[in-house]
Amino acid sequence: MLTNERPIAPGSIERLFALDEWALDHQAEVLSELRAAGPVVWIPKLGVLAVTEHAAVVEALNDTERFSSRLGNPRGPRVSEVVENAARELADDPTATELLARLVPDWTAAPTLIGLDPPHHSAHRRVVNRLFTPRKVAGMRPRVEAIAGELVDDIASEELVDMSTRFAVPLPLRVIAEELAIGVDDLPAFKRWSDDMVAPIGNDRLGPPELLGIIRTLVEFAEHFRPKLAERRENPRDDFLTLVAQAEDDEFPINDEQRLGIVAAMLGAGNETSTKMLSSGCAILARCPDLADRLRAEPDLIPAFVDEVLRLEAPVQGLFRMARHDTTLAGVPVPAGAWLWILYASANRSEREYECPHEVKLDRSNGASHLTFGRGAHYCPGAALARLEGAVGFRALLARFDGWEIVDYQRDPSYVLHGFKHLNVRFV
Ligand code: HEM
Repeated sequence: MLTNERPIAPGSIERLFALDEWALDHQAEVLSELRAAGPVVWIPKLGVLAVTEHAAVVEALNDTERFSSRLGNPRGPRVSEVVENAARELADDPTATELLARLVPDWTAAPTLIGLDPPHHSAHRRVVNRLFTPRKVAGMRPRVEAIAGELVDDIASEELVDMSTRFAVPLPLRVIAEELAIGVDDLPAFKRWSDDMVAPIGNDRLGPPELLGIIRTLVEFAEHFRPKLAERRENPRDDFLTLVAQAEDDEFPINDEQRLGIVAAMLGAGNETSTKMLSSGCAILARCPDLADRLRAEPDLIPAFVDEVLRLEAPVQGLFRMARHDTTLAGVPVPAGAWLWILYASANRSEREYECPHEVKLDRSNGASHLTFGRGAHYCPGAALARLEGAVGFRALLARFDGWEIVDYQRDPSYVLHGFKHLNVRFV
């Protein structure tokens, strides 16, 4: 095998896969050790080649012909195996059988966006791009400001607040809910769907009970959006669901299962990620009161701060690709069928790319060159919206509060997604 030719990951990475608290809290340190081992490093435990350096990450993301999103599963090899095992255990469970019958036709089996390669991918991508034109995103600003203002008002009189559940979760959740025409009463279910859709990402400790909950969500989600999409086809409106309902492509016809997949991508990709950006930024501001004071005095620097939060605390640490044929990356042989874990978060702290890479610096000339939103064909279509949510959210918090300190916190249980499940703070 090729193990002699490719560096092997140091042991600290195992702690991350075990979702050990220290490792989740020191993920950047763990990835720095991995990067020190090489630009492409074999991780036996996960069965992947980790891509750690900026240039190698860019090369892999820009080459969809060599490195496919379609061949592998976006969840990666280990989680895919765990989910398959749990599904086998549920084979005779009557509740699972009933739910799976309601899931037919199974929209989760129809790859879309993140699970497709060009040119097929481009047909789906054109649909979501239409929601995120610069004009449309600029038009969302007043609503994002209004929601951020309401959330700040809600917590203003409290002494102890969970910044994650009270601010970082509801801000993007309500923004996306409005785009997907979800009413206020349905918000709790919407949040649960969003949680369940991302639960298996970077967490291979899921068993049959968790999987059953996820299947239930996939059914509820489909039963909610199928009729809505059909209704939009009959009565078009000026909204995103109508764009999806009417999406057609001559070369790659888009079916109803794929339409649900596109809506699900918006829900899963658009919520949890921005939430993690907001909670990580709140933690940085709590730990660096001087930085918070500077931003309060010079709010024009807030967008640069948002990019530093994104660079340092990438909400998605890395996603997966599969090599289509034998090739090399950064001089390391990559056999056909090999899984790659493309670590945006590691590239973002590369000493070769960034001066003082572990520090917040608001005047970097290459501050926006981080890879937190990916690169190439799959570059995050929601990047402008996420940056808007960050800028508006931090500005609202900094304007209202003189400061906050962290009381305690709990990390998200994932080696792929990175943020805080809970971030309890006291205002000062
Ligand atoms: C801080 C917030 C965000 C982060 C860190 C983030 C990160 C990413 C990354 C890394 C990808 C590329 C996946 C790949 O290379 O395979 C991606 C794709 C995607 N993101 Fe985001 N995202 C964020 C916010 C959003 C928002 C707000 C939306 C929508 C409302 C969104 C929707 C999507 C969709 C639909 C894709 C799939 C694109 C494709 O495969 O062509 N994201 N995101």
